[in-house]
Amino acid sequence: MTRREEPRPSARLPTAEDARLLARRRQPRLVFDFIDGAAGTEDGLARNEAALRALRLMPRVLVDIQGGSTTTTLLGREYGVPFGIAPMGMCDLAWPGTDHAFAAEAGMRAMPVCVSTASSTPLEEMISRAGGNAWFQLYVTGSVDAALALSDRAAAAGYEVLVLTVDVPKLGRRPRDLRNGFETPFRIRPRQFLDFALHPRWSIGTLLAGRPRMANYDAAPGAKGYDRKAPRTGADWDFLDRLRARWKGRLVVKGVLSPEDARRIRDAGADAVYVSNHGARQLDGAPATVEALGAVRDAVGPGFPLVLDGGVRSGEDIVKAIAAGADFVMLGRPFLWAMGAAGAPGLARFADGLAEDIGIALAQVGLRHVREIGQGILAPRRG
Ligand SMILES: Cc1cc2nc3c(=O)[nH]c(=O)nc-3n(C[C@H](O)[C@H](O)[C@H](O)COP(=O)(O)O)c2cc1C
Repeated sequence: MTRREEPRPSARLPTAEDARLLARRRQPRLVFDFIDGAAGTEDGLARNEAALRALRLMPRVLVDIQGGSTTTTLLGREYGVPFGIAPMGMCDLAWPGTDHAFAAEAGMRAMPVCVSTASSTPLEEMISRAGGNAWFQLYVTGSVDAALALSDRAAAAGYEVLVLTVDVPKLGRRPRDLRNGFETPFRIRPRQFLDFALHPRWSIGTLLAGRPRMANYDAAPGAKGYDRKAPRTGADWDFLDRLRARWKGRLVVKGVLSPEDARRIRDAGADAVYVSNHGARQLDGAPATVEALGAVRDAVGPGFPLVLDGGVRSGEDIVKAIAAGADFVMLGRPFLWAMGAAGAPGLARFADGLAEDIGIALAQVGLRHVREIGQGILAPRRG
């Protein structure tokens, strides 16, 4: 009799789409759509995903691939995996305890979690829970001085990497949020009440945990609460210079697609450029990130660190993005879907699956290590 094999843990949440569909059942519509949605027609979101899918990896055979690993180095630190959690505000909306689960997962896996300015947990608590595997993401909302003060606070808390997000001069218009009446602070009208009542596990959990708050904004000196729609125009080239002079750690600028901008950011003294279109939540017509990556890589040169996010859904996508010129890859929505689908165990399973996929993809293309990935593993496209 053959012994029935235990399914691998990752097999229980095998793809990002499995997580997404489960999250859609368990989260109120308003919450699911806030996470899942994008700007305008949402073509930009589909393009991010499709551009990665369109890349092909060339298998190589008869290569001894024993002793491989998924570790990689970025900005002077070794990580266990070449991916991390992109900065996302109000994560605890996805499922109660999401911020804490993200931090724990980051600590366990030596994986960076990028803590948003709009996180539901104070930035000090996040880095401590993540065992130092945390970056801090800065928005300039309202006053420039308040933003600089927040960066000082991040430095005092021990953050070594600051990610300045520059692609939200004005908040994008997201049709699903408009249809659902999503706004902050929340107003619970009969329609939203019904939505919450139909998703009791989320609602009771959220009631017990307390309404997610803007933990950093509330405490920032000079900040008068959080206004999601406030212009974020304070982040200009002068501000970048001021921040570079003040922030002694590694500085990353997020939300860059133009090669000219990337070169100027490098010349202004940033340590890395983060190629992103905010998950297509800002400009529906923006290029897919992996399409923009090649020209950005050419502009900044071969040795300059590039981080990428947008539409990354699998370990193979991560390998493709690195082959196309990124040094490190971040994922946003998929981690929130995993939390929405199955809480912290779901998150762990999904991250396990990503790491496992990377190992398999490396073996298939005849490589042992992430640092060996180059353009050569992409199959040329003809015609
Ligand atoms: C719910 C949600 C909230 C986000 N909040 C922030 C934020 O506070 N700061 C930021 O720089 N980017 C934010 N982003 C953008 C992500 O950092 C990232 O660029 C994007 O999600 C990547 O695309 P993906 O979701 O397809 O992986 C947010 C994205 C989502 C889905």
